[in-house]
Amino acid sequence: MKNNSKSRVLFVCLGNICRSPTAHGVFETLVAQHGLVGLIDVDSAGTAAYHVGNPPDSRSIIAAAERGYQLDHLRARQAIAQDFNEFTHILAMDEDNLSNLKDIAPADYTGHLGLFLDFAQCVEHEVPDPYYGGETGFDHVLDLVENASMGLLLKLQLVTP
Ligand code: 4NP
Repeated sequence: MKNNSKSRVLFVCLGNICRSPTAHGVFETLVAQHGLVGLIDVDSAGTAAYHVGNPPDSRSIIAAAERGYQLDHLRARQAIAQDFNEFTHILAMDEDNLSNLKDIAPADYTGHLGLFLDFAQCVEHEVPDPYYGGETGFDHVLDLVENASMGLLLKLQLVTP
């Protein structure tokens, strides 16, 4: 683990019911599969408060379950300034989310605040919002999230003592 320290990763989208809970569930599963529970903490949040307390969108839950990821235990919450004291990596799904996070970030935040797909190997740089689209949008979110999750895990596992 980088600097032998614990990584705490927060995934952020707009509503915290589609993209960021998908990232939360996928990355949490990957962490467990690699025996890294306790070394990497995972959470998710939305920049908006529309869906606070709600479970993920049923379309996200179903699409994720088809690939073996459980999301139904997750509940939406809003990202807050205090998150910058808690998380080493705060990863936004799109540029709007990132801009809203920068608005509440303390000037002295020393963690990594950026786009999640910076860790992916793909042409896209944002995870598109699937909320108003069809079922295929949710599968596309999963494709991008799986890609970036593997890249993020490899990055966090780089040992630099
Ligand atoms: P998310 O998707 O940001 O991926 O959770 C959305 C969920 C809800 C809304 C927009 C996007 N909404 O407008 O309610």
